[in-house]
Amino acid sequence: MAQLIHGSDYNPEQWLDRPDIIDGDIRLMKKAGMNSMSIGIFSWSVLEPEEGKYDFSFLDMIMEKFYQNDIKAILATPSGARPRWLAEKYPEVLRTDSLGRKQVFGGRHNHCHSSPIFREKITAINTLLAKRYKDHPSLFMWHISNELSGGCFCPRCRKAFIDYLKKQYNNDLDKLNHDWWTTFWSHTYTNWEQIEPPSPLGDTNLHGLNLAWNRFITHLCADYIKTEVAPLKEITPNIPTTINMMDMFTGLDYEVLKDEVDIISWDNYPHWHSENDYDAAIKADFAHDWFRSLKHKPFFMMESTPSLVNWQGYNRPKRPGMHILSSLAAVAHGSDSVQYFQWRKSRGSSEKFHGAVIDHCGRDDTRVFKEVSELGKILQSISDVAGTQIKSEVAIIYDTQNRWALDDAQALCNKDKQYFAQVLDHYRALRKLGVNIDVIGSCQDFSSYKLICAPMLYMISEQNANRLKDFVKNGGVLVSGYFSAVVNENDLCYLGGCPGGGLGEVFGVWAEEIDTLLPGNTVSVADEQNTYTAADFCEVIHPTTAKTLLKYTQEFYQGTPAACVNSYHNGKAYYIAYRDSGKFYDVLYDNITTELGICREKSVLPYGLLIQKRGGLTFVGNYSENYIDFIIPDGSYDIVSGSQGRLSLQPYGVLAITKKE
Ligand code: GAL
Repeated sequence: MAQLIHGSDYNPEQWLDRPDIIDGDIRLMKKAGMNSMSIGIFSWSVLEPEEGKYDFSFLDMIMEKFYQNDIKAILATPSGARPRWLAEKYPEVLRTDSLGRKQVFGGRHNHCHSSPIFREKITAINTLLAKRYKDHPSLFMWHISNELSGGCFCPRCRKAFIDYLKKQYNNDLDKLNHDWWTTFWSHTYTNWEQIEPPSPLGDTNLHGLNLAWNRFITHLCADYIKTEVAPLKEITPNIPTTINMMDMFTGLDYEVLKDEVDIISWDNYPHWHSENDYDAAIKADFAHDWFRSLKHKPFFMMESTPSLVNWQGYNRPKRPGMHILSSLAAVAHGSDSVQYFQWRKSRGSSEKFHGAVIDHCGRDDTRVFKEVSELGKILQSISDVAGTQIKSEVAIIYDTQNRWALDDAQALCNKDKQYFAQVLDHYRALRKLGVNIDVIGSCQDFSSYKLICAPMLYMISEQNANRLKDFVKNGGVLVSGYFSAVVNENDLCYLGGCPGGGLGEVFGVWAEEIDTLLPGNTVSVADEQNTYTAADFCEVIHPTTAKTLLKYTQEFYQGTPAACVNSYHNGKAYYIAYRDSGKFYDVLYDNITTELGICREKSVLPYGLLIQKRGGLTFVGNYSENYIDFIIPDGSYDIVSGSQGRLSLQPYGVLAITKKE
């Protein structure tokens, strides 16, 4: 039977001297409608207090209680944090920073991923965990480590980097010198051993090196995950694995890591009520769509807060309704779970004031507990949605490696080239129309979409450019614009004009130069009827075969095209040469989606309302502080409230609309 997971990170190892609290926890979990707990994430020092001396008694006890109470266990491998003995006896497990400083014991998530000792020790404990619980009926999923991130600059990692490069370059150092353009500033390598990772003490200006190092960090992390997963897959081949990924994290390329695990999961902490809630919701939806599109399968929202966090500038409790609204948004976008950090507030240390289902008071009559319990019931009532796929006719390309290269480029506005903000602008215009959207990397398959938006796709390989070309040839509509297809996958500029990689022909334009506007400055652009506003960047372009849609009406480029469309074989390609402040994208996507017959709402949604469809349900959320009128179509009703017909949706209200039987 389909089931949505409702769960939480649970740290009973902090309460082993309080069996009354642990027993109370289990009772309250049932009361709150929780069916899964993530355990053991930071338990290494309890599970292996001394090297080779293991004690699984607390896990045995908890797993048994879960079994008795029909609660699933998402069992973590304990490498989120290491025990002291490990660092003390084997300092090689500690990271070295880019200035060559070795860390001392402390913190978490900061092991050297190339350390053979670390890998040996984690393999040993993972093997024991898998053997011990392989037949345990509660074992549901493996949670590998916690929020993997970061790199190490120790001599062993440096050697691994050089070995990686030798393999990538088939031992051809000349090719590497060419790709990294090392003749610049006389940086030519004459032997492999000269290669150092990027460092403020050495090279930060070889952009090819920076890009290669970022790729290597992801490669090493993937290799590390393989080490952790190997014993688990050997002993428990049917138990799925996951790593909990982080919101729009740029330190690793998740498009690469996705293949190392069975299920994508991520930790979702929007800045509710400290930034504009509608904007925060758009960002959270975008992230959900990104994580879902990694495997094009349902994912897990592994962490979220039931109330507030403790690490934002202003830590504000979710307003009444926001918890249910934001949790159902995750489900609407493809999550098969709503999970929290954390079940119970810890009594001491840095997370003691982080939101939890159970506060220090231990009560179940709090506002938070009641909302969590109410959500538990709602999740049961919509459980049929679990496992259902989301079909999108539209994709937006958001590419982590492109972001690395773009952020690294010394150009435009160095402080912020606004890549993510620009991608979000396109996303928002489409979400205003209630369109379901996939968010994909530039290596993914394009063939199933009608419309692809690829804003600021600065770095693209010729191979992927060709695939985009084919997409348009075969009838697809492509939207891109300024500073796109500028460099190839090695960060070398395309010669012969931009957009490069053959895309100039598709867009029917070539770009001559780009203007960076100062903060607060704008430039007008217009067609015969309407005027729009450009901010941040204005590119000067020349149509070759494209038709002009808008022209600049100011600046030295006054009268030249600001937006064009080109018919290319069976499809069309739009090139928007400037950063629009929003209105033109609204018009553009209204027209394109209508023309392509893309599934959308009949009219533009009122501000604050977001709609997403999944598995026969239409989720409608109000992210504003106002009531919004909404009509539930005849023959349908809201599962959450039972409402039908015309209604006034309250602030932070949500509907899950389905057809009547
Ligand atoms: C996550 C982390 C959790 C907890 C949480 C607090 O990033 O995985 O362990 O620290 O943040 O919001």
